[in-house]
Amino acid sequence: MKYITFALGKGRLVNNTINLLNEIGIEFPEYHENSRKLIFEDEVNKIRIVLVKASDVAVYLERGAADIGVIGKDTLIESGANVYEMVDLGFGRCRFAVAGLPGTDLNKKRLVVASKYPTVTKQFFAKKGQLIDTIHLNGSVELAPLVGLSDCIVDIVETGRTLKDNGLVVLEDICEITARLIVNKASFKTKNQRINDLIQQIEASVSKKGDLVR
Ligand code: PRP
Repeated sequence: MKYITFALGKGRLVNNTINLLNEIGIEFPEYHENSRKLIFEDEVNKIRIVLVKASDVAVYLERGAADIGVIGKDTLIESGANVYEMVDLGFGRCRFAVAGLPGTDLNKKRLVVASKYPTVTKQFFAKKGQLIDTIHLNGSVELAPLVGLSDCIVDIVETGRTLKDNGLVVLEDICEITARLIVNKASFKTKNQRINDLIQQIEASVSKKGDLVR
């Protein structure tokens, strides 16, 4: 039997995903948080996970190197990936927001916005009919308004601590974000039965947790 390969974005979502897979009887005996290994296997169920940079998950799927991916909705929107979005996994909850120094005027002409998410940023302001100047950064975005690189930022806010520690505030909410299970379109055809079974078990486990929270 061929492996079903999951591509997981390294970072916050990995442990949640592995716990979820454990709950449905999929085990990766060699996995531990501090390992530097990038591939782990469940030999019994023929499931493999590969740990990749979050922004690369969609590339692995689109190129057929992975069948299933777990990715934040933020990264998914930004990638514009041509994949099936199948399950809202409910974890990795955070939000997209416009943030900046208190009192920042978001209506000023030629607002300069720094973000790791230029697509989300452009879409959000285009919907409001506002022309902006977008600066694409790769990290530490909170610095931009502090040193005059931008008027504000578009970023994900989870606990709000990074903003607070840097004297920034949320100026406008954009949308909520959670982790999504995505599927390679070709795999969905060729490995349909196994992928559908997995999705059903995952959905059942996710909705059981939702019931407990409610
Ligand atoms: C994200 C985001 C914020 C921070 C928000 O960065 O870009 O900086 O987390 O989380 P908080 O509200 O809980 O403080 P990440 O940790 O992914 O690091 P990066 O900036 O290096 O990408």
